[in-house]
Amino acid sequence: MATHSDSDIRSLIKSMTLEEKCSLLSGEDFWHTKAVARLGIPAVMVSDGPHGLRKQDTAHEGTGINDSIKAVCFPAACATTSSFDRDLLQRLGETLGDECQAEDVSTILGPAINIKRSPLCGRNFEYMSEDPYLAGELAAAYINGVQSKGVGVSLKHFALNNQEYRRLTCSSNCDERTMREIYLAAFERAVKKSQPRTIMHSYNLINGTYAGESRWLLRRVLRKEWGYKGVVMSDWGAVNNRVAGVMAGGDLEMPGTDGVNDRKVLKAARKNKKLHKRIDESCFRILRWVYDFLDNRQEGSFDFEKHHAIARQMEEESIVLLKNDGMLPLNTQEQFALIGEFAKKPRFQGGGSSHINAIEVTSAFDAFQKAGASFVYEQGYLTEETDGDEQKSEELLAAAVAAAKKCGRAVVFAGLPDSFESEGYDRKHLDMPENQNKLIAALADAGVQVTVVMHNGSPVVMPWRDKVSAIVEAYLGGEAVGEAVMNVLTGTVNPSGKLPETFPLRLEDTPSYLNFANDKNSCEYSEGIYVGYRWYDARKMDVEYPFGFGLSYTTFEYSDLELNSDCLTDCGKKSKKGKDRITASITVTNTGKVEGKEVVQLYVSARADTAHDISRPERELKGFQKVSLKPGESVRVSFTLGKRSFAYYETALGDWYAPSGTYEIQIGSSSRDIRACAPVTFKTKLSLPLDIGPNTTLGDLIANKRTRKIIKAFLKKVLQKREAGAAEKEAISDEMIEQTFDATPLRGLYMMGAHVKKKLYRRLIEDLLETEEK
Ligand code: BGC
Repeated sequence: MATHSDSDIRSLIKSMTLEEKCSLLSGEDFWHTKAVARLGIPAVMVSDGPHGLRKQDTAHEGTGINDSIKAVCFPAACATTSSFDRDLLQRLGETLGDECQAEDVSTILGPAINIKRSPLCGRNFEYMSEDPYLAGELAAAYINGVQSKGVGVSLKHFALNNQEYRRLTCSSNCDERTMREIYLAAFERAVKKSQPRTIMHSYNLINGTYAGESRWLLRRVLRKEWGYKGVVMSDWGAVNNRVAGVMAGGDLEMPGTDGVNDRKVLKAARKNKKLHKRIDESCFRILRWVYDFLDNRQEGSFDFEKHHAIARQMEEESIVLLKNDGMLPLNTQEQFALIGEFAKKPRFQGGGSSHINAIEVTSAFDAFQKAGASFVYEQGYLTEETDGDEQKSEELLAAAVAAAKKCGRAVVFAGLPDSFESEGYDRKHLDMPENQNKLIAALADAGVQVTVVMHNGSPVVMPWRDKVSAIVEAYLGGEAVGEAVMNVLTGTVNPSGKLPETFPLRLEDTPSYLNFANDKNSCEYSEGIYVGYRWYDARKMDVEYPFGFGLSYTTFEYSDLELNSDCLTDCGKKSKKGKDRITASITVTNTGKVEGKEVVQLYVSARADTAHDISRPERELKGFQKVSLKPGESVRVSFTLGKRSFAYYETALGDWYAPSGTYEIQIGSSSRDIRACAPVTFKTKLSLPLDIGPNTTLGDLIANKRTRKIIKAFLKKVLQKREAGAAEKEAISDEMIEQTFDATPLRGLYMMGAHVKKKLYRRLIEDLLETEEK
C-alpha cells in the first residue's frame, strides 16, 4: 500500500488551487470530508461513538438523524470509567478500532471527557469523571487503543462544555487556574499521552470568545504548549465566524455548509495574505489525518458475538457495589422476586448523538431465565408514568409487594428513564421517578430483603438507601448489561468498580448549585477548582457515596507504605538522576475468601505547610492501579510521582508551581477511605515573582525568600525601638503587632511614623529594591 510522507502531502498542497484548499476545510456532508477529484484526493468518513459505532446508513442525503447501522453497544463512559482500568479502556479502543476498519470509518467521534461539573449535566453519562487525572488517563488508554488499529478519534468537546443548556451560545466564564487544573487538565493529559488524530472544539464560548475562535485555546495552549499535531474539527454546527476560526487554528468545519463558509474563507484569503499560511497548515493537518487512515486500511469483518462478549466483560469490570448487608452474592437456587421494567427492558445507553442501534440487548430477566434461576417477575412500575396512570401504578406496586413478600427477597431494577437525561438538555433535579422510590420503600417496609440495581447515567438521590440490603450501580451498561449484572449479583464476577464521581446527598450540596444553567448568556464557574470531591472534602460535607468508592465480595488490607526517599527536588527542565521523582510503594493483601480486584488510589494533600496564601484542595488523585488478587495473596503496588503531582497552576508564572514544603502522600481504597499516609518534602529554588512597590505587603515580603531576611531584621529593629509602657504592651502585644504587619503595605509603615523613622524606612526601601536588581 502506498504511504504518504509529510513531503508528499506538502507537494500535494502546492499543486492545489486556493479554491481547492478552502474547499478542503469543510465536510462534504454530515459524515464525510471532501475529495479533490482533480488530484485524486479521496474523502473519508467519520462516525459517532464513543461506546460503539453510530455509522449512518444514508450518509449522503442525511441530516445526521437517520437510522444507523446495527452495531455492538458497549457500556457508556459513565460505566467504563468506573473500572479505573487502563487496560480495559485500551481494549475497548482496540475493539472499536477493528469495527471502524471493518466499516471503513476513518475516525470515531470520541472519547468525550468534559468534567462533570454538576451531576445535572444532561450528557454526563457520556463523560468520564469529575476528576481530570482519571479522565485523562483513561481517555489516553482508549485513544491509544483505537489509534493502534490505524483509525483516528476525535477527543471532545474542547473545552468547558459542561452543561447542555444553551450550549451553542452560552459563555463558560472561568478563571485560568481553574481551567488549567480542572477543565483543561484531562485534555492535556490525553493529548500528551496519545496525540489524538483529531480534537473536536466545543459549541460554547469561553470567557466571551467562541472555543472555535480562541487563539489562546487552540494555538497557544493546545498546539504550542501541549505540542498537539492533529486536526481540530468543529462540533457539528459549532462554527460562528469561520474566518476567525481558521485564523485561530480550527482546521475542519463539520458538517459541510454547501461551501458557504469555504467561499467566505476564500474571499478573506484573497484580501489577507496572513490567512494563506493558516489555510496551508490546516490542509496539511487534514490530509495527514486522511492519509494516516487510508495508508493503514485493513479491510475485514469482525465477530459480533465476540464483541458482545467484550461488552459484557467491560460492564462486569465496571459495575460498582455501593452497599451489601449480606444479601449478595445472590442465591439463585431459592426463589426470589425480580422486579422492575428495567429488568426486562434495561436502560443501557443514553440519548443523543452517541445512541447506538444495538445488535442484541440482553436483559437480566433473559439472563436469569437462561441460567435456570428460580424467580418470579413483576413489573412494579411504569417507566414513563403520565397523568391518569396513577391507578395502574398502584396496582403494579401492590402486585410486586405481594410477590416479593412470598419470596422474602427481591431484586429491583430501577433508575432513570430515557427522558430524564439526554444530550440537548440538563436535569433539573437528582430525583428518581416517584413511583420507583415508592415501590422500593414499600418493599423494604413490607419486610422484604431488597437489592436495588441502578440504571442511570449520573448520580441520583436514594431516599431508601438505609432501608435496603444492597445497592448495585450498573450505570448505562451497554447491550450485554443483563448478563453482566446477573454475573455480579450471583458472584460469578466479583464487583470491582469504583465511583468516578461523588454521589451527593442533595442537589443543594453540589459545588455549582448556585451557578448552573441559571443564566441565558453565561455561566460563572465561581466554585473554582472545588469541583466534585475537592468541594465536598474542603467543606467536610457528608455525601451519599464518595469519589473512588466501591465494595467487593472480598476485603483488602493495606500495609507497609514506603517512599524511596522522603524528599524530592524541583530540577527545572533537566532531570537530575531521578532526584525530581519519588516512588511510593504499598502492599495490598486480599484478606477475604474469594478472588477479587482492588483499585489502589493515591492522593496528594498539599494542605500542610505548603498552602500559604494559595487555596488548595484537601487531596487530589495522582495515581491509581487496579490489581487482581487471589484469597490470601499480596502484591506490592508502586507509584512514581514528579513535580506536577504536587503543583498547582500559578498564573503569575504562567506555569505549574509546587512551593517548597511538606506534602502528604495518602493511599487508600476511596477518597474517604485512606489507609496509609506518609509525608514528603518538596524543594524548589523557584520563587514567585514579586514586584516591590508601595502596596506590597510585609507578609508577602516575609514569604519571599529574596526579601525575607531584610524585612525580618527591619521588624526586629522596629519592635526593639518600641517604647511602650507596660499597660500598652498588655493591650497591644508584640504578636499582635507582627500579625498586623503581615497585611500592612510598605506605604503603611511610613504612615505609622510614630514607630518608623523616615531614615529607617528609606533604607528599607533601598535594600528591598536592591534585591530586585540581583
Ligand atoms: C455532538 C457531538 C457529536 C456530533 C455529531 C454534536 O451535536 O455534540 O458530540 O459527535 O453532534 O453527531
